Amino acid sequence: MVSGDVMRRAEALAARLTAAGWLTSGAVRSALRDVPRHAFVPPLAWTGEGDRVAEADDPQRWLDLAYADEAIITQLDDGATDAATGDGRYTSSLSAPSTVVSLLELLDLEDGHRVLDIGTGNGWTAALLARIVGPGNVTSVEVDPAVAERASATLTSLGSPPALVVGDGADGWAPGAPYDRVHATCAVAEIPYAWIEQTRPGGVIVTPYAPGFGSGHELRLVVLPDGTAVGRFTGYASYMMMRSHRHPEWNPAPLAVRRSTTEIDPRTLGYAPAGADLAMGAALPGVQARGHHDGDTYTLRLWSPHAWATATYRPGRTVFDVEQAGDHPLWDHATTAYFQWITQGSPGRDHYTLTVTPEDEHVRLHRPTNTTTPR
Ligand SMILES: C[S@@+](CC[C@H](N)C(=O)[O-])C[C@H]1O[C@@H](n2cnc3c(N)ncnc32)[C@H](O)[C@@H]1O
Repeated sequence: MVSGDVMRRAEALAARLTAAGWLTSGAVRSALRDVPRHAFVPPLAWTGEGDRVAEADDPQRWLDLAYADEAIITQLDDGATDAATGDGRYTSSLSAPSTVVSLLELLDLEDGHRVLDIGTGNGWTAALLARIVGPGNVTSVEVDPAVAERASATLTSLGSPPALVVGDGADGWAPGAPYDRVHATCAVAEIPYAWIEQTRPGGVIVTPYAPGFGSGHELRLVVLPDGTAVGRFTGYASYMMMRSHRHPEWNPAPLAVRRSTTEIDPRTLGYAPAGADLAMGAALPGVQARGHHDGDTYTLRLWSPHAWATATYRPGRTVFDVEQAGDHPLWDHATTAYFQWITQGSPGRDHYTLTVTPEDEHVRLHRPTNTTTPR
């Protein structure tokens, strides 16, 4: 039974998300009001900023957090570190309501749609989906057995739980296929082809996509009758990575280093907008790019299994040190791709498409053809 106080908090959260432009769908709004988010928050949780919030110590603060537009961290280091310490890599959470709503709206859910949900976590998004399309139409997959067990207990206590599966979401869940919708709340570095195989033609896949070069993206794909999928990048997304898709750490191989200088400020590439990340990532497949701050110094790091590069900004300098090692000059390639992106008119992320086939996937600049007949 949802109390009046909780109902008011859920209404207020829905109103805030509507005012901010995140929430436009009536079905998603109803689900947000009907599913009590606090039921999925463990008694001891952490904010994304690392603040400890315990229900026993401060029940009002804990309830405020449950109905705030904030991610709530619920697992560290895949469970290897006690969540009570609050000190470790975030590996499971309730995602922030604005990002959850954004992905749910991209699904364009209809009554009776069969949905595959990847990354059950605490079960909140599975419950929202079940509320919209019916619990019998939702299958949710979680890789971590302890996390899945807690979600199962919560969903069962609320009645009519969706089907929960413990497994690797990269494999989808073939016994429940075909699906109308696939919804992931862990980020992938590439699209698992099983998701496409298990989705009917015209079906939709919505996922956070983080190929490793700069920022992460919200991605909406449509599955075509020929077994490929094509889609667009619809916004920014910062999600925990799917376990098997985690990016390698910066660990430069001991290779012969070529030193040079550049007049290009490394921050020009490092702070470039998402469209540039997509363009550079497409030109440098398999290459990771991340900025590293050390006091006032900023280093752009680029690396792949066989090469690495750094370009370092230091205050007061007008030329910047570059180091490149391995079989490809990654800084040179990245700058070429960056200035080509400038030449193309600095297209935003919404100007790129992703095409996924059984063999591979490609990010391309979308060039609309002018099919209007002149009168
Ligand atoms: C951000 S949390 C999910 C948020 C959640 N859906 C909610 O209700 O807000 C990401 C979850 O994905 C799970 N995960 C990571 N890799 C996975 C994989 N290969 N298959 C299924 N789940 C995975 C993590 O264990 C974690 O619980």
